[in-house]
Amino acid sequence: MDTLLNRRSIRRFESTPIPPKTSELLELAAQRAATSQFLNAWSAIRITDPALKQQLAEIGEQPYIAEAPLLYIFVLDQRRNAHIAKEQGIDVSADGFNLASSYRFLQAQNDAVLALHAMETAAESLGLGCVILGSVLNDIDRLITLLHLRQLTFPVLGLAIGKPAQQPTLKPRMPRSMQFFENAYPADFDNEEFSQSLISFDATVHQYYDLRHADRPVAAFSAQIKKVSSAKPSRLNDIGRLAPKQGFDIRTQPEQEH
Ligand SMILES: Cc1cc2nc3c(=O)[nH]c(=O)nc-3n(C[C@H](O)[C@H](O)[C@H](O)COP(=O)(O)O)c2cc1C
Repeated sequence: MDTLLNRRSIRRFESTPIPPKTSELLELAAQRAATSQFLNAWSAIRITDPALKQQLAEIGEQPYIAEAPLLYIFVLDQRRNAHIAKEQGIDVSADGFNLASSYRFLQAQNDAVLALHAMETAAESLGLGCVILGSVLNDIDRLITLLHLRQLTFPVLGLAIGKPAQQPTLKPRMPRSMQFFENAYPADFDNEEFSQSLISFDATVHQYYDLRHADRPVAAFSAQIKKVSSAKPSRLNDIGRLAPKQGFDIRTQPEQEH
């Protein structure tokens, strides 16, 4: 509970290397995570080459990626299973090959995220700090090329791990009632309780200092949502183009009769 209730992202690390015994433990913890239908549909690539770390930091536009003593890129992975299925006599190039389906793409993504989160929690329980890296997806094409990601694999997230060289305060979270509902989703958010909760959360968030920009408090939550909602379309939306290129059939299926 202490580990989970005190977790926050760490973006500055001591240069101290992480001993191999520790990384082995973290990898075992990741492998222990639950996995849909026991397909183990994820893999992780340990990035140890400094030049490659540097290239990933360029993609992410975040220098701390290059400085992380331990860095992993988690990928959703049906390739290994497709190989096994093929050995078992399955025609993996057939239309409708199940491991390439949109459902399996989604569940493989879930597998990868759960494994990454297990690794993050394990690292934090050992006093290490982590930051999850969606920024490595800024240029998925380049990431796929750099890591030689083959058919039926797709990048999910990075995880940077190291001894913390900063002690950020906990970033606020919204009042629980805004995020936990009972038995059904609320009809709408047009009510006084929600408005009041949001006003108070906006104010709390606006008092938080992100150590990346320590000279000013972060914008209120509503302002952050507004900014992201109106951001220009970016390469991050390439998944619809790139998932099929990686062999996944994420097209809309005709409605099935039940
Ligand atoms: C899917 C995902 C992607 C993220 N990508 C990045 C990233 O690329 N760079 C970064 O500095 N933080 C990244 N984060 C960390 C979030 O910014 C952070 O969790 C959030 O602001 C809350 O702060 P906290 O983790 O300190 O509580 C990511 C988090 C998640 C869950």
